[in-house]
Amino acid sequence: MNNILITGGAGFIGSHVVRRFVNKYPQYRIINLDALTYAGNLANLDDIKDKPNYTFVKADICDFETICAVFAQYAIDGVIHLAAESHVDRSIKDPFTFARTNVMGTLSLLQAAKHHWAGDWADKRFYHISTDEVYGALDLDKPEPPAPFGSAFFREDTPYAPHSPYSASKAASDHFVRAFHDTYGLPTIVTNCSNNYGPYQFPEKLIPLFINNICKNKPLPVYGKGENVRDWLYVEDHARAIDLIFHRGRVGDTYNIGGFNEWKNIDIVRLLIRTVDRLLGRTEGTSDHLITYVTDRAGHDLRYAIDSTKLKTELGWEPSLQFEEGIEKTVRWYLEHQEWMENITSGDYEKYYEEMYQNR
Ligand code: NAD
Ligand code: TYD
Repeated sequence: MNNILITGGAGFIGSHVVRRFVNKYPQYRIINLDALTYAGNLANLDDIKDKPNYTFVKADICDFETICAVFAQYAIDGVIHLAAESHVDRSIKDPFTFARTNVMGTLSLLQAAKHHWAGDWADKRFYHISTDEVYGALDLDKPEPPAPFGSAFFREDTPYAPHSPYSASKAASDHFVRAFHDTYGLPTIVTNCSNNYGPYQFPEKLIPLFINNICKNKPLPVYGKGENVRDWLYVEDHARAIDLIFHRGRVGDTYNIGGFNEWKNIDIVRLLIRTVDRLLGRTEGTSDHLITYVTDRAGHDLRYAIDSTKLKTELGWEPSLQFEEGIEKTVRWYLEHQEWMENITSGDYEKYYEEMYQNR
């Protein structure tokens, strides 16, 4: 496999995947296709933009003719599809955009791949990146260790039960990908991953938003009582899993990717406050007063927790970082990249965020 199309490579996770592939596989040509929405930022890839095996194409995945032209021009034989609208709060305000990009955009890529590969599936891959949110929500009770993982966690065979327009649109796209495998034989793989954190994440998601707000002494809007639980994974561990599964995953299969790392939101907020305060030379806890409990998110899923035993057993993948270590690394990165943060939070985004915040 030589020519790999990575969609959404200017976004958070996509930029880590593009960087990894460009640096690790000089024999591949990596084509990063991204529409550069508010969430896409080419500055995320400044360090690799001049590499000879890297090409950027600005395009919308919903534009079927352009996508077909890209497949033909670059003789694409592998796809890693990350482009999506990805923020739950935005999906609640504007579900149409989510259905358009996540469902119709994915369908456009599937059709283009089917058309271009024309039944010659040898050495071809269509790898679709999805989320654990398609499985719905878990309750807070879980089996005491050492009970084996069971229905208290999301497994690959957990039935889909999405609650937000975002997760509903990702669920629909997953179904289309599997349908293209089952109906036409397209060599697909789907992975469903838990919440990612790390450098280059757009600061409307919990961790970068709160790091930025603590630095600027702005309120930290905790939804509801802060008791919702998420399973957090360092983004480079996700990129490493994607690399492994793209090369060694079974065609037609699904893998869950998770951190075995559940945290209540309020505990993360306190950890972030301690870490930022310390690294800024403030007394730890100085910023506790910024915590502001606000109206809960509509349809807020209580708990996500992934069982990634299959990935560990079959392909030997495990998360490499402890959460406290990953958070320390992440906070340091944001403090050292204030300019990156200023560039993306100024202008239109600032107005959007203020409006979102006022309406809570
Ligand atoms: P992101 O919002 O940071 O980046 C999305 C990228 O897609 C941006 O660069 C954007 O410009 C691009 N894009 C959006 N619409 C497009 C379109 N119509 N055509 C072409 N490009 C378009 O998202 P992320 O957090 O990096 O997530 C990447 C993928 O991983 C998504 O599919 C998401 O559902 C999935 N995922 C994310 C997480 C997470 O915690 N962030 C967890 C599991 C799965
Ligand atoms: P988020 O980063 O938006 O990811 P997701 O909703 O996809 O899990 O949110 C993570 C958790 O943090 C989620 O339970 C919602 C909560 N949250 C807040 O309490 N306040 C905020 O301002 C944001 C953005 C999220």
